[in-house]
Amino acid sequence: MQIIDNTAEAHDFVRSCRRNDQSVGVVLTMGALHQGHLSLVEHSREACDHTIATIFVNPTQFAPGEDLDQYPRTIERDVTLLGEAGCDAVLIPDVKDMYPAGASTSVNPPKVAEPLEGQFRPSHFGGVATVVLKFFQILPGSHAFFGRKDYQQCCVIKAMVEDFKIPIEIIDCPIVREADGLAMSSRNRYLSESDRRRARCLSMALADVQNAFDGGQRNVQALTDRLRERLSGAASNQSVDRLDYAVIVDPVTLQPIDKVTTSAVALIAAHVGTTRLIDNCVLDCH
Ligand code: PAJ
Repeated sequence: MQIIDNTAEAHDFVRSCRRNDQSVGVVLTMGALHQGHLSLVEHSREACDHTIATIFVNPTQFAPGEDLDQYPRTIERDVTLLGEAGCDAVLIPDVKDMYPAGASTSVNPPKVAEPLEGQFRPSHFGGVATVVLKFFQILPGSHAFFGRKDYQQCCVIKAMVEDFKIPIEIIDCPIVREADGLAMSSRNRYLSESDRRRARCLSMALADVQNAFDGGQRNVQALTDRLRERLSGAASNQSVDRLDYAVIVDPVTLQPIDKVTTSAVALIAAHVGTTRLIDNCVLDCH
């Protein structure tokens, strides 16, 4: 695997791979890799001739007071894991290369960035959209792979790609979970042992709603009540400390709906101890 530390060289790498109509899959990450990230590399390797990953903790998507400085950095291990997963190259740029002094252009994210995460982390998706657009320019791949774990992020990127007519195909990939259901996340390592046990209630609440949905419940109020009840510990003694949101909304616009006619998405953001966790599941009538 080639380890590339500057954006110009990475651009040349992708351009040379794409000669003769070959496909290149792009997997963007902030490092501290786990099986969720590596599954994106696997999906890319199945679909594309070449795969390039990035490791870059993007400062512009963290608000002051968020965990930018504490964000786990495990570069050596990450590089080993990407090599073992069969990546052809990894770009690890520095902040000055991505944001040279004086660079002041940024992306105003699409409307789908406004609700939910947009309410709790107002500048987050502007930073995400800006860095993702930069990476799409630096790495002109044919496909880019994102995890459904960050459901709203997938919606934002798909809308941006459509609005800006960016010639790359966005593939969203399933959530990879721990054995007990907790969605894998670089931030799970912040959880204490007892918080780690309580963190299970996010995936358990979603599974409960999925069951009710599979049993024929289509009323969004009833499904949402069930989701919140489970998160508040009413059905067991496991609860989160604070709920930012737990909603069932339109899977494309993320706007409220009354009834599930074709599909919907249940989305949760909750604090367990000092850690903020997100999770979701798609409710599909087919
Ligand atoms: P990061 O949180 O490192 O995630 C990188 C990619 O891995 C994202 O597409 C994310 O959705 C996916 N991912 C994380 N956990 C996953 C899981 N349990 N199952 C499946 N996929 C998972 O998301 C970002 O970084 C940044 O915002 C980025 C897009 C790199 C821009 O800076």
